[in-house]
Amino acid sequence: MNRIKINLDKRLSESHEICIGYDFQDRMGLLIAKDHPANRYVIVTDSNVSQLYGRTFLEKLKELGLPVELLEFPAGEGSKTMETVLGLTARLLEMGADRHSMLIALGGGVVGDLTGFVASIYMRSVPFIQIPTTLMAQVDSSIGGKTAVNLPQGKNLLGTFYQPKRIFTDLKFLETLSDEEYLNGLAEIVKYGLIDEPGFFEQLEREVRALRARSLEILEPVIERSCRIKKGVVEIDEQESGFRRILNFGHTLGHALEAASKFTLPHGKAVALGMTAASRISACCGFLPPEERERIEALIRDLGLPVRIPSDVAGPEVLGRLAMDKKKEGNELPFILLKKIGIPFMSKDVGLSLPEKILEEMAA
Ligand SMILES: NC(=O)c1ccc[n+]([C@@H]2O[C@H](COP(=O)([O-])OP(=O)(O)OC[C@H]3O[C@@H](n4cnc5c(N)ncnc54)[C@H](O)[C@@H]3O)[C@@H](O)[C@H]2O)c1
Ligand SMILES: [Zn+2]
Repeated sequence: MNRIKINLDKRLSESHEICIGYDFQDRMGLLIAKDHPANRYVIVTDSNVSQLYGRTFLEKLKELGLPVELLEFPAGEGSKTMETVLGLTARLLEMGADRHSMLIALGGGVVGDLTGFVASIYMRSVPFIQIPTTLMAQVDSSIGGKTAVNLPQGKNLLGTFYQPKRIFTDLKFLETLSDEEYLNGLAEIVKYGLIDEPGFFEQLEREVRALRARSLEILEPVIERSCRIKKGVVEIDEQESGFRRILNFGHTLGHALEAASKFTLPHGKAVALGMTAASRISACCGFLPPEERERIEALIRDLGLPVRIPSDVAGPEVLGRLAMDKKKEGNELPFILLKKIGIPFMSKDVGLSLPEKILEEMAA
């Protein structure tokens, strides 16, 4: 098990660490008992993860003599709502959870975002621990303290910045992950390869085969490096005043594509297309050298992610979504572009006609 320290500004949040390794659930229990005393522990999880890991983890904590209970809700993005928050809150009150209780988010990004949100507001906040079980949650959503639920009007519209006490990242969980969920996480890893040291991008290029085969030997260092990149960004700009926005690389167009497909396009594929488009825009504006743009597309394609927009996603619908985003930002649409692989920057002068042209080029 390795440890990655996340150093945060004391005035905002407490520093904490990511414990990362393979198959160390017993050790997690011991560390929770030793380092995070509480009058009650509540594991919050979704219906899938509960079946796979929730019940056994509950038993492990019980064997250590900890007072622990488990709450579950139906798996899926559809549960990331205020109804689920209110349902969980009612159950917490029923069991007598108070400010000295500890929530444990065991699951993917939906569980993490929701549990973090409840922890940040229940009785004016209770501590929580993240145990991410998807690749996406391990390299992205469990780190950085953004919590949220969706509203009918849009995704992540209610939320807080609230840091966990600790993050336990066990690669063993990934063995039961579907290919689609695995690809969702890989897309975020490619994003880190593009916004940080070019050496990481080169490592991903070299290890395409092993990554596709989910080889642990390569996944371990790749996940650890991804966590280090995200934590580095969060340390500089915890509450997203500016710099943290580089993590949105590929996401402006990605979100528009996701919405235009009525969410039939999974997040990872949408982000892969968004990164392809952002690279093409960067090259068209004369920033990114054409050969680097080609390498980026080759990596995305070789990992099994798309670089062509499916025919059932309509270009005008995507542009409409982008224009809506633009209104939200006070008539500017900030795009994260690349000067080179590893050197992202924010541009507000992209407009809509260049993305329109690029979307046409990328239509399958
Ligand atoms: N807070 C942040 O900074 C941040 C960053 C990125 C994404 N997010 C949020 O994260 C969410 C997406 O996260 P996600 O992709 O993990 O989705 P998810 O939590 O819905 O998990 C995907 C699916 O995998 C299942 N699952 C989880 N772990 C498993 C395992 N080990 N084996 C088999 N199945 C497993 C889940 O039950 C679910 O059906 C979105 O709501 C997004 O907004 C938040
Ligand atoms: Zn993403």
